[in-house]
Amino acid sequence: MDLKTVQAQVDSDLARIVSQQDLEDLRVKYLGRKGLIAQLTGSIPGLPVEQRGSFGKEVNALKNKLLGLLAEKEKSFSLPQEDLNPGRFDMGMPGIAQELGHRHPITQIIDEICRIFTRMGFAVVSGPEVETEHNNFTGLNIPLEHPSRDAFDTFYLKDYNKLLLRSHTSPAQVRVMQTQKPPLAVVVPGRVYRPDAVDASHLFMFHQIEGFLVDEHIRFCDLKGVLELFARSIFGPEIKMRFRPHFFPFTEPSVEVDISCIMCRGKGCSVCGRKGWLEILGAGMIHPNVFIQVGYDPKIYTGFAFGMGVERIAMLKYGINDIRLFFENDLRFLKQF
Ligand code: PHE
Repeated sequence: MDLKTVQAQVDSDLARIVSQQDLEDLRVKYLGRKGLIAQLTGSIPGLPVEQRGSFGKEVNALKNKLLGLLAEKEKSFSLPQEDLNPGRFDMGMPGIAQELGHRHPITQIIDEICRIFTRMGFAVVSGPEVETEHNNFTGLNIPLEHPSRDAFDTFYLKDYNKLLLRSHTSPAQVRVMQTQKPPLAVVVPGRVYRPDAVDASHLFMFHQIEGFLVDEHIRFCDLKGVLELFARSIFGPEIKMRFRPHFFPFTEPSVEVDISCIMCRGKGCSVCGRKGWLEILGAGMIHPNVFIQVGYDPKIYTGFAFGMGVERIAMLKYGINDIRLFFENDLRFLKQF
């Protein structure tokens, strides 16, 4: 085996390496037990004595050069360890978790209430917060001289004649009934606005859920049954209900509905003002004048309607004593729900 030929091969062979396998093959070819280097070394005893020393040195130099070049190639194939983790972090350390948010407690209560009514067959719809005077008042049999139409009790939009921020969700009754024929059963959650001074139980904006059902032969007992199922679903099976006569222009007869106090169970405490009862909503049988306004024949159709304040229900359910807490965006408060 000729040293010069082997030396000449090394460079061209190395240039052709493209894979780990090529590298292994070359290692065997040159450095293997029967490889070229071994053959060269094996030929030393057959050389004249005076040549053996220098020949051996050259073979050794070639071997070292090969080892170096192969090691270099090897490096270029192995994973770039430092790039994956350039020593800047400990891959075994627990990650920094991104905190997940959740729905606002008011949204949660709205969803829960809507779910109870959709199980009973009600559809969920929404209406605009900017309403006409007609939908908010006139269509609901609220006469021109009614105090709730006063600017002290309703936000009117200054530059738009007869537009206002709805003061209750009841205008949705007018909207739905104008566009649909009975039978219908609908709940309408949404924001309402009243120019009230802010305190622990009043805000200028809060949420209501309106509900109404219209068909032939709907009676007051249907309203009672629906509301009782609702109250038991949200406050628990032990809850008691009471219907007190009341007045709303758009229902006749009208009632206010109380539940037995969830703090003292009716015995009387500071939450219920020692009465044992808590008012949770207004309701009644839809007034014939409302039906006439939307073109329903009140001799054929009857129906009931109810409206509840979402914040009030949430405050009762969770024992919260200040309505402002809901809208201060204090995460220490909101995280509890
Ligand atoms: N809209 C009434 C209110 O805001 C509540 C209500 C709705 C009463 C439907 C009766 C029927 O006070």
